[in-house]
This record gives sequence, C-alpha cells and structure tokens, in this order.
Amino acid sequence: MEISSLTDHKLWLAPLAGYTDNTFRTIAKKCGADVIVSEMVSADGLYYNLENSLHYAYFEEFQRPFGVQLFGSDADMMAKGAEIIAGIKPDFIDINMGCPVKKVINRMAGSALMKDLDLACRITEAVKEVGLKHKLLVTTKFRSGWDLESINYLSFGKALENSGSDALILHPRTRSQMFTGHSNWEHIRLLKESVNIPVVGNGDVKSLEDAQELYNLTYCDSIMIGRGALGKPWIFQEIKDFYLNQETSIDKLKVVLNHYELSLKNSNPNDQLHAIREMRSHFTHYSKGIRGGAQLRDEINHTIDPQEIFNIINKLEFNQ
Ligand SMILES: Cc1cc2nc3c(=O)[nH]c(=O)nc-3n(C[C@H](O)[C@H](O)[C@H](O)COP(=O)(O)O)c2cc1C
Repeated sequence: MEISSLTDHKLWLAPLAGYTDNTFRTIAKKCGADVIVSEMVSADGLYYNLENSLHYAYFEEFQRPFGVQLFGSDADMMAKGAEIIAGIKPDFIDINMGCPVKKVINRMAGSALMKDLDLACRITEAVKEVGLKHKLLVTTKFRSGWDLESINYLSFGKALENSGSDALILHPRTRSQMFTGHSNWEHIRLLKESVNIPVVGNGDVKSLEDAQELYNLTYCDSIMIGRGALGKPWIFQEIKDFYLNQETSIDKLKVVLNHYELSLKNSNPNDQLHAIREMRSHFTHYSKGIRGGAQLRDEINHTIDPQEIFNIINKLEFNQ
C-alpha cells in the first residue's frame, strides 16, 4: 500500500483507549472514517502475552486501511511487538510517542520518548525494519514537546522522517498540557512545511467548521478526530459530504441503535453487562445537548435490562 492511500485528504479515527474498541471502530467506519487505528497496545504485553494484549489489535476486514498502535520503550521489544502485530496483517503500525499518562511515561514510553530523541529514532528504525519485511507502513504520533520549555516537534518530526517513518501525526499540545487548553494548530502548519512526508493534523476537531479551519490553516494532508467523534461518529460523513458538495443524510438514531446492537453482538453472551456498561459510557456522549438527556442518562444508568436500553435509546430526539 502507498502512504498516499492513508494520507491523501483522509479522515482518521484517533486511537482512544477505552473507547475505540472493535465496535466503535466499526460504527466510525460506517459513518465515513477512512483510516482506523486501534487503541494503544503494549509491545511488552504482546511479547509476554499479558492481559490478552492482542485482543486490542483485532480488527475486521471492513475497517481497512487499519493500523495497530504500539507503545513501548525498548527498540528490540518494539520490533518483537511489531512482528506479532504483523501476524494479524494490518496495513500499518503507528508508534505512540504522545501518550501523557503516568503509567506509560513512567516506563519511558509514550510522550516520554520526546525527551530522548535517540531512543525515539532507534524505536522507529526497529519498527520500520519489521514494516519493510512485512510490507507494513509505519507512522508515528507525537505531541509538540514535553513541556512549554522544551517544544521540539520540528526537530523530532524531522528525525523520525529520517528514521523511516512514512507519515507523522501531530497532536500539538505538550505532555504537560495533557488535554487542557486548545491544540496549537500553527505547529501542524510548521511541521507540514518542514518535512517531506505526509502530516496528519490532530486535536480539537469537533465540527465540520473545525476541520475546514484546520485544513485551511495548516495544509495538513489528513485530519485525525478523536473526542469529536464520541457521541458524534457521523462527523466523518458530515466533513466528507461537505467536500463532495453533497447533502448529509444520516439517521443518527439508527446509528446509536446499531452501535448498541453491535456491542451486544460483539460481547460474550454470558456477559451482556459488559456491553451495557460500554453503551452507558457512549450514551453519555450521544445524549449530550439532547432535550431530556440528563433524565435519559439517569434511566440508562439504572437498568441492566438489555431491551429497556433499546427503549431508552429510542427516546433520543436528534435534530436531523
Ligand atoms: C480517553 C482517551 C484515550 C486516548 N487514548 C489514546 C491512545 O491509546 N493512543 C494515542 O495515541 N492517543 C490517545 N489519546 C489521544 C487522542 O488520540 C488524541 O490525540 C487527542 O485526544 C487529541 O485529539 P482530539 O481532540 O480529536 O480528541 C486518547 C485520548 C483520550 C481522551
């Protein structure tokens, strides 16, 4: 696969640990997302077969082009993880160099790699070698820097390009900012100007207008959307239809019902509670800003009857 099939004006679903499971990825794809990435999977976890790590990477053919996101802090271990991932034949591997959570950075993985350029490059080279062997593209996702005093996304991105990354995904906040404030889209523009590989812009795209602004301001090749797709997976279709100059006609209620049906189908028949809990979490987003949303959230949080949940979802009154 050519990198342009992943980055030529495409809409990516961002990895969101705890949300972008197989069910939500299917829904996002059906709602127009072009490129799908798994939530982060630990290279060590894959190698030692911990907590069923490979489970997070499973995907359905329909979700292609599909990438598995790997995290880790050791080049050899990342190569071993990539080898295991190659066995399930995704289209690409994305390396996580942006995760800010303590559990990850304390292991010198995720955004901690932005403090060690040499290690970040060795990891990229090691994963790229596996990628070349198995015909998998390699992308890297990172932030603007560790903190405001050490903004280094330009030199970092350039170095990753030289280490073999096929495309760069930038979430322009520092690790210290976590998710506060607004992404600094200017960093995406400057990165795009300074490298010769495609740049995927990420951060705070919550509407068609945001997507237009991000494209116009930065000339990024593609856009990745995370939180903006929660409770609103049709955002992908809305953006696509705008650029195709066509009306969007999505039956939003049908999407939510389909989401719940799929959750039940994909869950263990003996553990429907799992699907119900998942739906409750997504329902918080679906019902945001909807008339009577608070009441419906209360109702869904107080039932474990699968049929009753269908009835509650049916009460959502979307403005079409
Ligand atoms: C709940 C949650 C889980 C996330 N999990 C991951 C992850 O597994 N891997 C990753 O690279 N980024 C992860 N992120 C960061 C997002 O992919 C994205 O970079 C960030 O949320 C900014 O984009 P957005 O404003 O479109 O959400 C996560 C963010 C959130 C809020």
